[in-house]
Amino acid sequence: MNAKAGIDCAPPWSDVGQHAMSPQATHDEIARFNFLANFNKYMSSRVVGGNAVAYAARARPAWERERGRAPQDRREIRAAMAADPYYQMWSSLRRSAMEMRQQAGRALVLRQAEALRDRARSLNAGAPTLRLDATVAVPRYQSALDNHCMPGSYFAEYLTDDVAAAANYDAGMFATTTGLFGRYLDGAGGGVARWLAARRPGWQPRRILDLGCGLGHNTVPLARAFPDADIVAVDLAAPMLRYGHARAAGMGIRNVVFMQGNVEALPFEAGSFDFIYSTMFLHETSWPALRRILAEVDRLLAPGGLHLHLEQPPYRGMEEFEKFLRDWDCYHNNEPFWTTLHDTDCPALLRSIGFARDTCFETSIHAVVEHGMPKVAEEVEDFGRGGMWYAFGSERPGVVS
Ligand SMILES: C[S@@+](CC[C@H](N)C(=O)[O-])C[C@H]1O[C@@H](n2cnc3c(N)ncnc32)[C@H](O)[C@@H]1O
Repeated sequence: MNAKAGIDCAPPWSDVGQHAMSPQATHDEIARFNFLANFNKYMSSRVVGGNAVAYAARARPAWERERGRAPQDRREIRAAMAADPYYQMWSSLRRSAMEMRQQAGRALVLRQAEALRDRARSLNAGAPTLRLDATVAVPRYQSALDNHCMPGSYFAEYLTDDVAAAANYDAGMFATTTGLFGRYLDGAGGGVARWLAARRPGWQPRRILDLGCGLGHNTVPLARAFPDADIVAVDLAAPMLRYGHARAAGMGIRNVVFMQGNVEALPFEAGSFDFIYSTMFLHETSWPALRRILAEVDRLLAPGGLHLHLEQPPYRGMEEFEKFLRDWDCYHNNEPFWTTLHDTDCPALLRSIGFARDTCFETSIHAVVEHGMPKVAEEVEDFGRGGMWYAFGSERPGVVS
């Protein structure tokens, strides 16, 4: 709710937290993001509901007339809904909103790509905490697609030392999440820090590993919560790391090494990390890669250590219609591994990989959203845009260091 206006609208894009790498936006660019944020909010709060009406009134009866039975699972519901005009409208508007977000973000950052690159260069100059490695190969599950419709995905480089892909991700995220991730898009990381403080009061992990850190939105809250810890934040994408390192440096963060690498196999000794985590990462990896990544976590976790992964909730226990709606991203938003992860019993997967000696768990983690951004009720889980995260992980027996 926008208290000033008395209406339920997204906070303005100009409330996005400013940092050293923030792109400069004109009035019209801000207006575009404001339109998109409110459009997305309207879509996810109002328009989505019409799908259930269309299904009950048209798609299910038509399917039943033809086959003599109702659709049995989310796949059959999708087939039944494919030709429904309301679903087609909703789906195409959602897709358009994502494409428009990319267009708005790219128009903003590409016109100032050199200035952003130069700012990152100056903030990163000579820093031992930025470790890029041009020999790191991007695996096919990342290189073969533009993740969630981002042209060039996380990896496109138009200039030497480019950061535009990351700047676009950073600028556009607020429009999709309508402020629910917080001003600095760090609500998940804040939630992890708060959850850890409750789970292990007084614990000060010495070595922390952030898997698939992106530009570090959710690394910074851990760096602040554990200022004496050495944190390694790993990502495949050089533009994300350059931008993320510069952004963090501008915030005064000094205890994070931003490292280019593939988290399926990392150059650290066994048992190197007390706390290993990921936020919004695993659903972007293939099934074989997911297993290799978790096996690597198994190798790297120290005795007494803990690991935790934040994702959207598993489909288990949900209505088939709800699963069908959630599957939209898999089919129409370039998230091909989405369905598989959400169909997986993650604690069982952990045990099958070798964590059987550990205490495997699932939990919910509420995002920490501050600085006047909209707060979501504890129980709200809004298609991953805010509120509640699903998390799974395990705790390793041994002396907690
Ligand atoms: C959704 S994004 C960033 C998520 C980030 N943890 C956050 O909370 O903002 C996912 C990131 O995972 C990275 N990634 C994908 N596969 C990877 C891999 N095998 N190793 C390291 N990073 C990977 C991508 O480059 C991308 O930056």
